[in-house]
Amino acid sequence: MTHGDSLADRWRSARPPAAGLHLDSAACSRQSLAVLDAAARHARHEAEVGGYVAAEAAAPVLDAGRVAVAALCGAPDAEVVYTTGALHALDLLLGGWPRGPGGRRTVACLPGEYGPNLAVMAAHGFERRLLPTLEDGRVALDDAALALAADPPDLVHLTAVGSHRGVVQPVSMVAQLCAELGLPLVVDGAQALGQIDCAVGADVTYSTSRKWIAGPRGVGVLAVRRELMERLRPRLEPPEWVSPLSVARQLEFGEANVAARVGFSCALGEYLAYGPDVVRARLAQLGAAGRTVLADVPGWAVVEEDDEPSAITTLAPLDGADPQAVRDWLLSQRRILTTCVGVQRAPLEITRPVLRISPHVDTTVEDVETFAEALIAATAATA
Ligand SMILES: Cc1ncc(COP(=O)(O)O)c(C=O)c1O
Repeated sequence: MTHGDSLADRWRSARPPAAGLHLDSAACSRQSLAVLDAAARHARHEAEVGGYVAAEAAAPVLDAGRVAVAALCGAPDAEVVYTTGALHALDLLLGGWPRGPGGRRTVACLPGEYGPNLAVMAAHGFERRLLPTLEDGRVALDDAALALAADPPDLVHLTAVGSHRGVVQPVSMVAQLCAELGLPLVVDGAQALGQIDCAVGADVTYSTSRKWIAGPRGVGVLAVRRELMERLRPRLEPPEWVSPLSVARQLEFGEANVAARVGFSCALGEYLAYGPDVVRARLAQLGAAGRTVLADVPGWAVVEEDDEPSAITTLAPLDGADPQAVRDWLLSQRRILTTCVGVQRAPLEITRPVLRISPHVDTTVEDVETFAEALIAATAATA
């Protein structure tokens, strides 16, 4: 048995059995029994001792989750705020971003930016500048360096892995470039945390619990370097009856599903115990193996490079197949869970929907072969 196989077995046996083939971790992964149990036990504790007393008792667990996130972002001094998800984290961040003279604010991002992020940027009055890319949507580093130096934005926003394809951006090189130019770098790690190395020391990294870390839904994190955090001006001031709070605690202030945060902290602990390098290597290996299998499926083109180090494989229809109909058929007829990615996920980069699979480490190459056969049947059945 190879190391990868034993990781697959351990990951699988730590979870409830899947009702079919789950190839959808980029949407929402499967929680482990221990994570489910930790959240349930916290909810039970709330009923026993009271919600606020239980939250106080859970503080060390939540702090452990913050430390884990800061370490995974390569910013051990970062302050970490729990949110309800990645989009909420971006909203809090941009809502509090300092205004320069004249109040104008600019953000540089890629054309493949996640659609809802573009909406949040616009809602906070950020003017958008698109950075140059290569054909596959990857940042063109030299051209981007020239553009950023010529007309520096207030911040660079990099979505490390998009929602619409598994291209992995060169995050550490962008971090180095931004450091050289003295520009703050904000990384959207929703699809990246747990899947690729995010320990590049960006000024801000935010992410979500339910994808590659396999925590509960409805939780996310915003990790901000301390000196930047102190410059943020939270949009909502805490009520007068609350004693003075740090900026981070002001951002976090409000009602929360503490049980879900406890579950997320537990998932982070499990992820670290499996070993980030081992999990990431297995995910990259699965992506590469899957693309080899899927390259031969008629009527579809694999979007990513064969060896793109991500577990996500995107399939673009060549002969008019409908990704939504195919996705629905796969689920209803074969219990195979995939995603139809609509253009709203990356409205400045894609013009047609695509089909996405995103297996976690418990998936085998045989599973991808089963999917490939089912995809052929689905394509014929929905034509
Ligand atoms: C790249 C990217 N950014 C942000 C988000 C938003 O995450 P959340 O739903 O936790 O707000 C997603 C969700 O799919 C995503 O794929």
